[in-house]
Amino acid sequence: MRRVVVANDHGAVEVANKVVEHLKARGFEVDHLGVYTNDSVDYPDKAAEACKKFLGGGYEFGVLACGTGIGISISANKINGIICALPQNTFAAEMAKCHNNANFIAFGGRIEYCDPVEEMLDAFIDHDFEGGRHAKRVDKIMALESQI
Ligand code: RB5
Repeated sequence: MRRVVVANDHGAVEVANKVVEHLKARGFEVDHLGVYTNDSVDYPDKAAEACKKFLGGGYEFGVLACGTGIGISISANKINGIICALPQNTFAAEMAKCHNNANFIAFGGRIEYCDPVEEMLDAFIDHDFEGGRHAKRVDKIMALESQI
């Protein structure tokens, strides 16, 4: 079965639940690492938890969420092997897969998106990496992990 790992901080409980429901409705097996309440937690901890699970294998991709999506996506992108996109809309979500080959997608629970989060998620899921010239660029992104 297609598996997804989901994690969020207290600023994104509602959007994370929405994501989990949608993924389950689409037939994914979802490992939701929480949090489930508004009690304050630190988003780098939730990013680390989800990325560690993902890197352990067996997951198609991961979804992260915090108040803005910014802190948790920055945190995830510090971890070797993770490419976490923070799309503004459905088009960007599609491009995150087609051009960037992202393995994580992030959302902001306190952000008013012009497109429903479910549609952004679908755009990410239902497209494939195009490879070609984009592969060279993604390889360059990954090479930055051991440079500079
Ligand atoms: C938590 O209050 C908030 O800072 C966090 O959810 C996120 O928006 C950070 O980028």
